Amino acid sequence: MTPDAVIAALEGANDLRTADYRLRPVCDADLDDLFVHFGDPRVAEFLDNPPVETRDQAFDIIDWACGVRAAGSGVRWTIRDADDAFLGTCGFHLMNYSHGRRSDIGYDLGPGHWRRGVMAQVLPAMLAFGFGALDLHRIQAMVTPGNERSCRLLVRHGFAREGVLRDFGYWRGRYWDQIQFARLRTDVQGSSDTE
Ligand SMILES: CC(C)(COP(=O)(O)OP(=O)(O)OC[C@H]1O[C@@H](n2cnc3c(N)ncnc32)[C@H](O)[C@@H]1OP(=O)(O)O)[C@@H](O)C(=O)NCCC(=O)NCCS
Repeated sequence: MTPDAVIAALEGANDLRTADYRLRPVCDADLDDLFVHFGDPRVAEFLDNPPVETRDQAFDIIDWACGVRAAGSGVRWTIRDADDAFLGTCGFHLMNYSHGRRSDIGYDLGPGHWRRGVMAQVLPAMLAFGFGALDLHRIQAMVTPGNERSCRLLVRHGFAREGVLRDFGYWRGRYWDQIQFARLRTDVQGSSDTE
């Protein structure tokens, strides 16, 4: 895809829907929700940033989300229910079309929405958008060891556990391994974990 075509596809990402949830690009109006959400240590436990402590830090997340979309390198949505209540966020980042067609994904729900099958609807919608409108070949995710919920989610949706990237990232004053998961457009639907 050309850069312009990618940006056009991301423009079409304004209102993705599942049976029960809506995905809308992060915008300034989400500041209060994001401040509470990313300030929760339970949400941040396995993420690469500590809990946000100020509204400015929450605004930096909005700034980042708007920036990646404008640059054509991703999109971050809020996940909302039919009553427009905020449940979490998800999206694509580090999209790359110059040497392949791949992207990373990320997702985070508020703890009150864990284990209710929200991502069981949202992740398939993300994959359909990624392999469809975004024409990706490979969708990948990195998970911090210990984040068993996230590992289970990915395996349930056909991602293969490819290996551990040792000391991949540095945050909170130390290096962290990352488990690399990926699903290819050509993978057969269903679990492809090798363990
Ligand atoms: C990672 C995260 C999104 C996973 O959330 P989750 O609630 O486990 O995932 P789902 O929404 O798909 O729900 C599946 C769970 O709900 C249960 N469930 C209940 N009702 C369900 C339904 N109607 N349909 C499907 N699953 C249902 C499933 O059994 C499953 O639980 P289990 O894994 O204990 O078997 C969540 O833990 C989170 O946001 N964590 C904090 C942020 C984070 O770490 N993000 C990932 C960074 S890599």
